[in-house]
Amino acid sequence: MNDGGGQQLGEGGWTTVVRIGDTVRRPVRPFTATIQQYLAHLHALGFDAAPVPLGYDDSGREVLSYVPGDVPVEPLPAEATGPEVLTALARLIRRLHDAAQGWVPPEDAVFGSLPGIRPSGVMPLFATPELVSHQDYCPGNVVFRNGVPASLIDFDLARPTTRVADIVNALYWWAPLLHPADRAPALAEADIPARVRLFADAYGMNAEQRSTLVDVAIQRGRNASLTAKTAADADPVFRRWWNEGVKDRMPRAEAWLSDNAGLIRAAL
Ligand SMILES: Nc1ncnc2c1ncn2[C@@H]1O[C@H](COP(=O)(O)OP(=O)(O)O)[C@@H](O)[C@H]1O
Ligand SMILES: [Mg+2]
Repeated sequence: MNDGGGQQLGEGGWTTVVRIGDTVRRPVRPFTATIQQYLAHLHALGFDAAPVPLGYDDSGREVLSYVPGDVPVEPLPAEATGPEVLTALARLIRRLHDAAQGWVPPEDAVFGSLPGIRPSGVMPLFATPELVSHQDYCPGNVVFRNGVPASLIDFDLARPTTRVADIVNALYWWAPLLHPADRAPALAEADIPARVRLFADAYGMNAEQRSTLVDVAIQRGRNASLTAKTAADADPVFRRWWNEGVKDRMPRAEAWLSDNAGLIRAAL
């Protein structure tokens, strides 16, 4: 795409993102204003590992700072699977949480979600949210510098959550909480309980957070399968995503997690 000299970014193909100089331009969605306010709060609190919100351009797109570095393409290459990567990500998310903790969303806040009605069987992961956090730590949303995660991008699914629920999302992608057949080859034989423990230690999770992590992960897996299915029914883009493997990967992840729940609890 030629956009006034801009360069189209991204392999995932969900959102049309164009880089122009030190900025990126993204379409405005219902949640964009809320997320720009959230990002401004993070930067005001000294959390700089996120794009700087720069308002809107003449074409009505949102403008964010371009974050230099490398974004991994799945399957995760071996160099993105080492313990130092997990440790750096855990510390980054801890800093994000600490900066996000006090932010009160505006009355008219709008948060993003997948298309489709909320399916029956989806259970909330918490009684009361503690903070607004990222909630979508897929590899395409993590920018590496010097071989380790240095910044987060794509806050489109940021929403009220808890520290544990947000950590579980990161672990799903990066431990990962997946059946060996669905992991990057470099992680097929990995000791996942040990990697969960490493993340928990690097984050500085307390005893109560550790005690609830596995139950939250199990419920997150159930919710994700149900929600992905209704999104696939509602939207052709999600239907392709579902048919291209999600429909098999999610139930395999659920089964693997329930088989390994005891080992993860023991490691924590
Ligand atoms: N602020 C940014 N700085 C650097 N790269 C970005 C930025 N925003 C997006 N990108 C690149 O564009 C890709 C897609 O953008 P993203 O915001 O994650 O949209 P989506 O996942 O919805 O397609 C990212 O994986 C990254 O490579
Ligand atoms: Mg993304």
